[in-house]
Amino acid sequence: MALNPRRRIALIAAGVIVFFILILSNRHSSNTNSSLHSTHQLKQQKQQNDKTPLLDNDAIPVIYPPPFTLHQPGPEEKFLTYLPHSGFHNQRIELENALLLASYLNRTLLLPPVFLGNPAMPWLRYDKMYERLLLQTKRGLDHCPQLGPDEPLPSECLNYFRWTQVPWSFFYDLKKGIQDNVRIIFRQDLSTEWILDTLQVQSSDIYYMKDMSPYEFRVYDKPDSATPLAKFVNRIDLATLEAIDTRVLHFGSVFGTYRVLAQTPEHAELLRTFRSEMIFRNPILAETAARVVRQLGGVDQFVGLHIRVGDGLFKVRASIHVDDIYHKLVDAFTDLTVDQVAYYEDYRHDQDRQENEDYEVRQLRKFKPINEDLNKPIQVDHPSNIQDMLGDVPPPGLTRSCEPPSPMDATTKRFQKTVIYIATDTPSPRTNPLLRKIFATFPCVFVLSDFNEELHDLKRIQVVEEKVKLESYLIPMVDAMIAAQGHSFFGTADSTFSSYIERQLHPVYTNRPVKVMGIGNKKKD
Ligand SMILES: *[C@@H]1O[C@H](CO)[C@@H](O)[C@H](O)[C@H]1NC(C)=O
Ligand SMILES: *[C@@H]1O[C@H](CO)[C@@H](O)[C@H](O)[C@H]1NC(C)=O
Repeated sequence: MALNPRRRIALIAAGVIVFFILILSNRHSSNTNSSLHSTHQLKQQKQQNDKTPLLDNDAIPVIYPPPFTLHQPGPEEKFLTYLPHSGFHNQRIELENALLLASYLNRTLLLPPVFLGNPAMPWLRYDKMYERLLLQTKRGLDHCPQLGPDEPLPSECLNYFRWTQVPWSFFYDLKKGIQDNVRIIFRQDLSTEWILDTLQVQSSDIYYMKDMSPYEFRVYDKPDSATPLAKFVNRIDLATLEAIDTRVLHFGSVFGTYRVLAQTPEHAELLRTFRSEMIFRNPILAETAARVVRQLGGVDQFVGLHIRVGDGLFKVRASIHVDDIYHKLVDAFTDLTVDQVAYYEDYRHDQDRQENEDYEVRQLRKFKPINEDLNKPIQVDHPSNIQDMLGDVPPPGLTRSCEPPSPMDATTKRFQKTVIYIATDTPSPRTNPLLRKIFATFPCVFVLSDFNEELHDLKRIQVVEEKVKLESYLIPMVDAMIAAQGHSFFGTADSTFSSYIERQLHPVYTNRPVKVMGIGNKKKD
């Protein structure tokens, strides 16, 4: 007999509670600390606890802080929470919106973890999303990480290693500017029962804002704001949310850049604070990036690029995006003429300005048309002091030798003063035809794979309880952290990752002011 959905949820919920209690007593009992544990501490933990899977002695574990690590709620306190979905950057934008809402409404944020998975769970309407989040579980699968390397993977374990969840405290320092403005409780479990249990509230204490479409509402903090709804469907003024008195205010998705507006001067400042703190601070990531940056000559000594070509429309428009970035570099750091540029572009400029029709894109409508950009002829526009940018010796701080894939000529020799670091999802960037013209023009270009020997610590980071390594998720982050530390940064149009680097990582890592203006910019992931 099939269980009705409510029954099913109730059963799942019961499982959730048991699981949560187990987690609390096993995983978290000895961790009152959100910094990284030493292997030594872990071994001690393992000896105390036979259920922990066999540990990789070299692993650097992800630490899961207990719910009340940052804040212990009082009796009258009100709360706010939401459901996470999609990739890292959508979840980051959800967090930004949720922090603003929690602060505006003086509600404590029940902060969900970051879901990392491949493929990521897309947006779904509230009830579906809730169900999916609860069905996506590792309960009852404790045997999966116990399997030896030679044992076949049972079917129930096939998905086990393809996703995991990591607390935001792994990436960001929540303690300073964020905690000063928002009280945070870590929500390790997305079930309603967890809320009832942890906060000691009743079902009637939860007010749901269930969304039926992905951009169902936009929150206006300024009553007389004339900012258009854009892709959002309904306008909700802050006063409407303030009038809700229920203890817990539960949103579904809160994704979308500037979904929660910050238009009063006070709120704009708050957004600037949050953006300045939503910066990768994990010590292993930071140290790895710093080792590479030192070899590039140090902070502010090179040009950082973020070139995303991997999927969807980024693939279709890859050669156009690369060409846009290439011409900015040529303008700012060379004295090349139009004819010379044509030569270094291999006379492929017009071809590069076309979309690649070999790839099908499902969600074309999400992207703005770029007709104005097609068939753009070669132009050069150098600043008047361009000669200062040229030089035939690499900067003294650079500890690597410049090894261009094709030999320098008398012209390109003079561009060795410009060191370029490319963060990219392109496989084999040094030999990829898409990036060829950058390497052909600038002799001193570097990519992460040139620094493979610096990535050893990243490979060690693990959700040890699940034996899930995080390297593949962390590589693009470290890549971005390096590119962000140049004196200049150029990103890929329409990429939320590029705008995150441009707006937040680059200014913070190089001590420049963080950008919060630009409302109405439509950046897509
Ligand atoms: C967290 O751990 C570090 C290193 O193990 C230790 O120095 C620090 O005192 C701990 N903090 C708390 C709050 O336990
Ligand atoms: C905000 O909420 C906290 C916790 O409930 C409460 O102590 C405080 O007085 C509230 N602040 C304002 C301005 O209402």
